[in-house]
Amino acid sequence: MPAARVEPYRALRARRLSVQYLTGPTIAKKMRWMKHIDRRISCAPMMDWTDKHCRYFLRGFSKHVLLYTEMITSAAILRGDRARLLAFDAEEHPVALQLGGSEPKDLALAAKAGEDFGYDEINLNCGCPSDRVSSGSFGACLMLDPERVADCVAAMKASVRIPVTVKMRIGVVEGRRRETVAAIAQVSDEDIAELHRFVTLIRDAGCDVAIVHARKAVLGGLSPKENREVPPLRYDVVGALKRAFPSLPMIVNGGLRTVDETRSALEWCDGVMLGREAYHRPYVLAQLDAALYGDNDEALVPREALLERMARYAAREMEKGERLSSITRHMLGLYSGEPGAREYRRALSEGARAADAGPGLIQASAPALA
Ligand SMILES: Cc1cc2nc3c(=O)[nH]c(=O)nc-3n(C[C@H](O)[C@H](O)[C@H](O)COP(=O)(O)O)c2cc1C
Repeated sequence: MPAARVEPYRALRARRLSVQYLTGPTIAKKMRWMKHIDRRISCAPMMDWTDKHCRYFLRGFSKHVLLYTEMITSAAILRGDRARLLAFDAEEHPVALQLGGSEPKDLALAAKAGEDFGYDEINLNCGCPSDRVSSGSFGACLMLDPERVADCVAAMKASVRIPVTVKMRIGVVEGRRRETVAAIAQVSDEDIAELHRFVTLIRDAGCDVAIVHARKAVLGGLSPKENREVPPLRYDVVGALKRAFPSLPMIVNGGLRTVDETRSALEWCDGVMLGREAYHRPYVLAQLDAALYGDNDEALVPREALLERMARYAAREMEKGERLSSITRHMLGLYSGEPGAREYRRALSEGARAADAGPGLIQASAPALA
């Protein structure tokens, strides 16, 4: 075909394709992969904590925050009860599925399953240091095998259209506790070279965003809890990494607790991920939402409105057979730092254990002092 006729043909074909994507019954599904995700604030994946009930609760504090599931292994998705594992409420969007695994083919299939279920992003866990996870050859130990991670990322990218991201540490140390605690405070030139190599490989494999927990992980020496506290936070290393890879969106994670800390981190990175603080004091998400997206503090959500929202949710979920305590256990931090916080926590946790407890308990637990 002569060149002059090729261009209009291409344009027509492109238009047909886009029309095909913008119409039809599955329009919402097809548009999702084109949607921009605001990543300035996200809530970290936390095993046993950020299940669907927790995410629904957290969504009440901010429409914008990007929520992550707990880590789900590719094996569980491929061989387990997929519908139960991947189910989430439509209100949770934007929501990212975190996968654990190290087999590119399995991860690609699990990522596709996640996309089909409607998740907005697929994240690969390369930061979790628990022994159980290390023995399964996924989590932080994968940072020792960057080529494998790159293969995993490339395979997932090839199977989905939504973003594929990696959650990682600034490095990994193998060894016994006594030797490593002192050693891990140091970040040598060699450590930096390894970190750059890891990021180069995942970026070239198609990783859309790197989420960096600003600590090293110690494998085989510290418990998961210690691994979130003992290795010192090195925001400076993440800052330098961002400067070295300016075109790769980078999210900093670890130890961030306040609006001020978040604001200053946003001066040098693309987003901030909060974990424990968001769980224990979820109201920080409303404060961040107001500071970053709202016009003023009136944008903060009244706690009582959140209780009402959760009571309605609990009524729906209990009809499907869920236990009230599975929902209320994530809500204990609602009044954290406020008058009546302890009274509220006790009323909710003790009340939810009663055999006849119903959704009304949620509003009834509001502290009289608040
Ligand atoms: C109870 C708990 C479970 C966690 N589970 C995961 C997980 O499944 N995947 C993961 O990548 N990180 C996991 N993490 C680590 C968090 O995502 C986050 O990186 C870490 O808590 C540091 O952030 P923070 O200081 O804001 O809490 C977990 C943390 C906690 C406290």
